[in-house]
Amino acid sequence: MPQESYRVETHQYDVVVVGAGGAGLRATMGLAAKGLSAACVTKVFPTRSHTVAAQGGVAAALGNMGEDDWRYHFYDTVKGGDWLGDQDAVEYMCREAIPAIIELEHFGVPFSRTPEGKIYQRPFGGMTTRYGEGVAQRTCAAADRTGHAILHTLYTQALKHDAKFFVEYFATDLVKDPRDGRIVGVLAIDLNEGTLHLFQGHAIVLATGGYGRAYFSCTSAHTCTGDGGGMVLRAGLALQDLEFVQFHPTGIYGSGCLITEGSRGEGGYLTNSKGERFMERYAPNAKDLASRDVVSRAITMEIREGRGVGEHADHVHLNLAHLGADVLRERLPGISETARIFAGVDVTKEPIPVLPTVHYDMGGIPTNYHGEVVQKVGDDPDVVVPGLFAIGEAACVSVHGANRLGSNSLLDLVVFGRAVANRCAELIRPDTPHYDLPSDALDPALTHLDKLRHADGGTPTAALRLRMQKTMQADAAVFRTAETLREGCRKIDEVYAGFEDIRVTDRSLIWNSDLVETFELANLLAQAVGTMHSAEQRPESRGAHAREDFPERDDVNWMKHTLVAVDDNGRCAFDYRPVHSNTMTDEVQTVPPKKRVY
Ligand code: FUM
Repeated sequence: MPQESYRVETHQYDVVVVGAGGAGLRATMGLAAKGLSAACVTKVFPTRSHTVAAQGGVAAALGNMGEDDWRYHFYDTVKGGDWLGDQDAVEYMCREAIPAIIELEHFGVPFSRTPEGKIYQRPFGGMTTRYGEGVAQRTCAAADRTGHAILHTLYTQALKHDAKFFVEYFATDLVKDPRDGRIVGVLAIDLNEGTLHLFQGHAIVLATGGYGRAYFSCTSAHTCTGDGGGMVLRAGLALQDLEFVQFHPTGIYGSGCLITEGSRGEGGYLTNSKGERFMERYAPNAKDLASRDVVSRAITMEIREGRGVGEHADHVHLNLAHLGADVLRERLPGISETARIFAGVDVTKEPIPVLPTVHYDMGGIPTNYHGEVVQKVGDDPDVVVPGLFAIGEAACVSVHGANRLGSNSLLDLVVFGRAVANRCAELIRPDTPHYDLPSDALDPALTHLDKLRHADGGTPTAALRLRMQKTMQADAAVFRTAETLREGCRKIDEVYAGFEDIRVTDRSLIWNSDLVETFELANLLAQAVGTMHSAEQRPESRGAHAREDFPERDDVNWMKHTLVAVDDNGRCAFDYRPVHSNTMTDEVQTVPPKKRVY
């Protein structure tokens, strides 16, 4: 029971979407367009969501700039994910990519254009034609501000369809009906007014993004605190494949700001201190356009072997000057500006200092390709959790498997945002009445709120957050060993235990950023613990999970998804789901596992 009694205002909608990034907005507008009442609850103004920072583009086999086929895209995605992706879901995403992008064009996304007026498409890492033989130009781009263009368009579409937005409302916890355990809502604080709100829905859609801020250096915004994943763990459900954390090869040295892979797609290349184009040694065919895990490991190897650049020989160079000022201005204006501001570099003249930086969580809330959250119950690994959906980086469908290909993330947002809207329209009749909830339904969420609000320990939130970030950066890194991971587990467990001593200094509910950051830290910490322990228990190398002590992939024992539940004491319980190695239809062949070379 909470210490204080709180007044909570109830709002009832057919569907409640939490988060207003690309996935949340695509779902919200789709729901509203289908005649369902939809509320979008978001902690930041929609066009400030992290999707705004996505640069290089969105993949779809449109074939505007050369041969392409969605089956090639399917093959690349399965291979890129190192055979951990569910092939039925990958088929769904790659096939649906084409109508989903044409739809975006019709909604008004200002894509760059070819001379004939078609959507411009650039090469991206791991994207090939003819099952690995050629280079595909598949990534649809709006210069290097594609996320910005998509986000703004989707927001205007959602407004056009009269979706209701609750902006700067921070969702704290899922709410269950205590009579049957069904998830029926979410509790949120209106940050501006300091009031509490229950959003009740026949479906709750978590579109809350990743938890990149568990790390010290990441390309993710400060808002990327995995709030949906944290809520799901507190609701007693498991997350999937947390050990697979993607490092983007080209974060700016020092600040971690993203320099798009599109810059290598346009012809940029990496060099070491000897001026060597070292990717030729690691990926003789794809070179700088190998998949991200391969390029990130190659950079790390170069640095380890003493061929890094700079005073401390601890980063490498990304060369773009040879592309010429016109191409840089037209195709890469955003990163030209970012490099000037954050690295003091004029890209028309000098290389950019770069280093692999945490960029994306392949793991998350397990779902099927409708976006429905699934859990393992008894022997059935695919039991749908009624009323709960997850999409975008918060979710693990799993289309990205152990390593996501660049430009499949914006795609995932729009394809599965759309899929959730379609599924909800199938399942929910508009304006279906809501049951009244029993008076104790909000007790768990209010007790959590009350506990954090009155936390009067000795550790400031920022101090504990920093310890978590440093631990994750050091011990759940590009390369891992049993030793580093065991040490990482010990340290992250200690950090988790330190949360008991947290101190929140502001007791009000109005714009209490101290309280919000403490909620966010709780969300991050649970997923940091899940990530470190999941990595420790997987003795193989697959995709982004590179174990130096187990350098090979082990398909016999480990071609399976990790499920991890983290309890209130930070203890992990593991289970597994089989990978779906089947496709949805016979229009495409499953890709049998083989050695992954580029
Ligand atoms: O490099 C980039 O532009 C990032 C794209 C992505 O993560 O999909």
